[in-house]
Amino acid sequence: MRVSIFGTGYVGLVTGACFAEVGNDVICVDVDADKIEQLNRGEMPIFEPGLEAMVIRNRDAGRLRFTTDAAMAVEHGDFQFIAVGTPSDEDGSADLRHVLTVADTIATSMESHRIIVDKSTVPVGTADRVREAVDRRLQQRGVTTSYSVVSNPEFLKEGAAINDFMKPERVIVGCDDAYSREQLHALYAPFNRNHDRLISMDVRSAELTKYAANAMLATKISFMNELANIADRVGADIERVRIGIGADPRIGYHFIYPGAGYGGSCFPKDVKALARTAHDVDYVPQLLQAVEEVNDRQKHYLFNRIREHYRGDLAGRRFALWGLSFKPNTDDMREAASRRLMESLWEAGASVQAFDPKAMDETRRLYGDRAGLTLCDSPEAALEGCDALVVMTEWNLFRSPDFELIRSHLADAVIFDGRNIYDPAVLARLGFQYHAIGRPPVTPGEAGAKA
Ligand code: UDX
Repeated sequence: MRVSIFGTGYVGLVTGACFAEVGNDVICVDVDADKIEQLNRGEMPIFEPGLEAMVIRNRDAGRLRFTTDAAMAVEHGDFQFIAVGTPSDEDGSADLRHVLTVADTIATSMESHRIIVDKSTVPVGTADRVREAVDRRLQQRGVTTSYSVVSNPEFLKEGAAINDFMKPERVIVGCDDAYSREQLHALYAPFNRNHDRLISMDVRSAELTKYAANAMLATKISFMNELANIADRVGADIERVRIGIGADPRIGYHFIYPGAGYGGSCFPKDVKALARTAHDVDYVPQLLQAVEEVNDRQKHYLFNRIREHYRGDLAGRRFALWGLSFKPNTDDMREAASRRLMESLWEAGASVQAFDPKAMDETRRLYGDRAGLTLCDSPEAALEGCDALVVMTEWNLFRSPDFELIRSHLADAVIFDGRNIYDPAVLARLGFQYHAIGRPPVTPGEAGAKA
């Protein structure tokens, strides 16, 4: 089938590559000429495991092309995917400027029936606004053609996006007409294996499904972070509690990891946008507001622990920071908890020596040569001359470090762990003071570090 995709960001690029991978003829369009040139050379603008090889393979096979020529893409694809960004507006609502510009661009060259697919995460009612934008332009051009606007939200996890696309748990197909539903089912047939993974519904429900999924996941995390704070105060260990509650299949073990707060391009933005939508229809979304507030507070958790440990005396101290990306296997630092932590440490007069397996360039782009920040080539180099170690992202590389080496580099044998990846009993035995999230602090040799 012929597919055109507007936007070669994270979602557009993965979607384009995966559709090409199963034999479709795909054109990806972007207004950014440099990016298109880069992609034509086979260079990826983002890091995502498996993406580069898939893009190059399909480009070489002639099934995946990159262009700035929107008219050619509109002519090409029976499906016109809109996969551009929807950043948060000042009031938290999703900014639809890019989505509506693409709708207008499609209508500017559309001559016959096209299926316009909203892939971007967009508020309920956006399909109607896309339709209005298309109608306006078609009318102005005097072109009369039928077309469909459908909602097909993505559920890709960064770092696992290729797998999520190729082997989806579900594909939401939001259509208000039978023809586009049939066509989308055909397009997704190669990914619909073992049992039916396609879930069809009306457009508005599909739009809301995306927000509902992300808000539910964010709620699980904030719930656990709230519990971690309570555990701290009552002297319980949230990790024991997590294991205890996850055993109930109604609760489950997924997505109940307490931590330094959720980040990334989706949860913070989508929880805000859904709350905004609720306000717009005169509903006060109390739970969603709390989810966001708890997360905001959680991003200060580790800094508060550090400040308490040093009794407020942070000026002139140096901290080794392991992990900058908002989660492992990505170089994405949008809303990363590491940023809030670094900024608080700098404000308190401390400095940071940081290492991340993938996000060093991104950190450089964000912070440049900022005083108080040294970027290091290895986890070990980041430790040199520091007071303590802070772990902010649970990269595998950090899971089983040489603790003797860590101790030999640090002025104080102290570890602050924002992801609960170490065993308190082991660290206590090795002579560390260990601060994690929602776990009783342990001091060297302490028997209280219950294994
Ligand atoms: C998310 C959704 O999972 C995905 O379905 C959607 O399409 C886009 O948003 P992503 O932003 O890539 O994907 O990251 P995800 O793996 O969901 O993690 C988000 C944040 O939550 C990270 O900061 C992570 O550290 C945090 N998290 C996750 C926790 O703190 N605890 C958990 O138990 C799980």
